[in-house]
Amino acid sequence: MAKLAVIGCGYVGAVTAACFTDLGHTVECIDIDATRVAMLQRGIAPIHEPGLEPLLRAGIATGRLAIRSTYPERMDAEIVFIAVNTPASQEGAADLRAVRDAVTSVANRLATGSIIVNKSTVPIGTGDLVAGMARRTGMADIAVVSNPEFLREGSAVHDFMHPDRVVLGSTDPAAADRVAALYEPLGAFIQRVDIRTAEMIKYASNAFLATKISFINEIASICESLGADVTEVARGMGMDVRIGAQFLQAGLGWGGSCFPKDVRALAHMAAVHGTHPQLLRSVMEINSDQRLRTVQKIRAALDNDLERRRILVLGAAFKNDTDDIRNSPSIELAKLLQLEGADVAIYDPVVPAERIHREAPTLRVAETVAHGAFGAHALVLATPWPEFKTLRWDELGTLMARRTVIDSRNYLDAAAVVEAGFSYTCIGRPSLETPATVLESEFAMRRAE
Ligand code: UDX
Repeated sequence: MAKLAVIGCGYVGAVTAACFTDLGHTVECIDIDATRVAMLQRGIAPIHEPGLEPLLRAGIATGRLAIRSTYPERMDAEIVFIAVNTPASQEGAADLRAVRDAVTSVANRLATGSIIVNKSTVPIGTGDLVAGMARRTGMADIAVVSNPEFLREGSAVHDFMHPDRVVLGSTDPAAADRVAALYEPLGAFIQRVDIRTAEMIKYASNAFLATKISFINEIASICESLGADVTEVARGMGMDVRIGAQFLQAGLGWGGSCFPKDVRALAHMAAVHGTHPQLLRSVMEINSDQRLRTVQKIRAALDNDLERRRILVLGAAFKNDTDDIRNSPSIELAKLLQLEGADVAIYDPVVPAERIHREAPTLRVAETVAHGAFGAHALVLATPWPEFKTLRWDELGTLMARRTVIDSRNYLDAAAVVEAGFSYTCIGRPSLETPATVLESEFAMRRAE
């Protein structure tokens, strides 16, 4: 079993450290954020990540997982994973300060023969830069391997333990072999490439997934104009193995800490190096338009006027099973509704209210769905939390000023919503009126026959 270190205890670092400990290795995890370290030392995950806390606690209990906020004088780790964050500027350029700090901090503490593995998503060419820095800063001979992560928030532990593939980029085959050995128990295919190709696989994978979502969102708009149902279109497409069923869920568009940053960064890199990233720019444009289209739908459902309309947005997280609100489509939607004069409240079963307040100080945060629904003119499903599927629509209806539901993720049971007397608007499918109106229009049709 190996001695490992992980620099950065965010969702990637904490999951990597906890999972490698579970696989039997000894792991030292270092993060400069003392508050986060104090939580982790007590086995509390800094993020809502199913399955992470039990692994952290088990690792700490066996003594094989240590978490600290300062670097020891000498590090005896054979392999060090860099998993620090790389925030992006508005234009998309990645800020590599944390990566540089981590590399300089570890390089002169490591022994000859150790390996620095980069897991942070970094611009293509950063691996070479890291190798150069390690050579300059360190007294020892240190190899560099790029090992991009493909962990989804909310299922990161599962994704770590069941990878579709492991990508290793290196010019040093012996170093790549040693990193590959860590992953062998997981049984996944290990793809070995050069460092730049490994870095590009990460960006291209995320950009492709974002493209799939923007594609289906564009198809959803066309479905709406032509009277087709995008959910069935996606199902029909997805059964073709060449296309695949995943990431074809039309809705409010993609958000989170990765897709927006990575697609923008890839487009930025392409532009800086003289390539015109036409498709990537359209993918981003469709995504931001999707929020605007949803506002337009909500406006249309409320007689084309959002001024002083009370709206409850259901869900604040950028997707379910996470408490992350970075680049959350739900919060962006709520802010857009506020700009049109709506009085907006938001409810999320997991995200703490103070975090929403920090991100959107003028948003009202509802303690419960019923609390937020009181006097509301519309409910907007924005994050597909399972608990929203089982809402008692008839009871909520009695609290509301008007029975209107906009399902921006095509997530709810439309029939149950309509049954309770709501109008139901969704994405890329025909909207449904209240039963009374349906009956009226059926009656009108029968008369016309
Ligand atoms: C993503 C990648 O999936 C992961 O491999 C990478 O390492 C990090 O970035 P994550 O950000 O956790 O993971 O979220 P993901 O599950 O990929 O969803 C991203 C966004 O796309 C969410 O806002 C989600 O709601 C949206 N989405 C996803 C859709 O709108 N439709 C879909 O069909 C799938």
